[in-house]
Amino acid sequence: MSAEAHRYAVFGHPIAHSLSPDIHSAFAAQLGIALDYRTIDAAPEDFVAQVKRFFAEGGLGANVTLPHKNVALALADKHTEAAARTGSANTLTPLVGGGIEAHNTDGSGFVRDITERHGFDLRGHDALLLGAGGAAKAVAWALMDAGVRSLTIVNRTPERADEIADAIGEPARCRTRYWDGLEGECFDLVVNATSIGVTGGDFALPMSIVQDHSTAYDLCYGTASAGFKGWAIAAGVRPDWFRDGLGMLVEQAADAFERWHGQRPDTDPVYRELRQRY
Ligand code: ATR
Repeated sequence: MSAEAHRYAVFGHPIAHSLSPDIHSAFAAQLGIALDYRTIDAAPEDFVAQVKRFFAEGGLGANVTLPHKNVALALADKHTEAAARTGSANTLTPLVGGGIEAHNTDGSGFVRDITERHGFDLRGHDALLLGAGGAAKAVAWALMDAGVRSLTIVNRTPERADEIADAIGEPARCRTRYWDGLEGECFDLVVNATSIGVTGGDFALPMSIVQDHSTAYDLCYGTASAGFKGWAIAAGVRPDWFRDGLGMLVEQAADAFERWHGQRPDTDPVYRELRQRY
């Protein structure tokens, strides 16, 4: 890589296993763009200073992952509606004339993966969202924008689900239920946006909430999606109608890439290559 290659980075803590450098480098190679995309491990107390230094030294774009996404929005001088709605940012871009713009591509990446890659037309469907953290918030707005007939949000801490539904403000279409209050309900799509697959725990949900036409989608991938996949298939979701979050990871990266480089990469070869590893 030449010394003049344009500098990009992903900030997180930990960050060593991030796939973002591989994904962005593959996109850049496809389009003949010289790119130097690195991981930067930033402890929470150093994150803001490190981001500011990165841009002051000529960095042209930064992705942000756990645990910094909320602070990434707060440190920005300007933000997009997608970032404001989710209260967090995963894409930072230097503004012409100085300053930083915050954006969030999680919701758009999710919708593009499920609709374009997996052919699931969200319009008119009944969706259940498990979880109410930052990722869930992005997915909730994206599902509403994509035209689901109804969105039900459940969360271990119900107040967090209520907050999302209140912010969306369409009570006829978006509602919350208690985690243990789903008996008798059935959904076309169940999205897991909890961290149960990472931290451990059970998906204590009635099996009757899915049928064999239902799709189950986990925002996690790899071993972290095994628990939800196991629950979904035991509950009756067809194995090939279970989706993990690998495609969303590639699509949210493509949305950031397009924002920075003005060109949309072909995500399919990159997704296929990663799929062989995960
Ligand atoms: P992120 O921003 O990545 O989405 P987060 O804000 O830590 O992460 O959210 C994690 C989600 O997983 C939350 O919805 C959390 O529920 P709470 O809001 O009650 O904390 C959910 N979660 C984590 N462990 C869980 C468990 N064992 N059972 C049920 N939900 C769990």
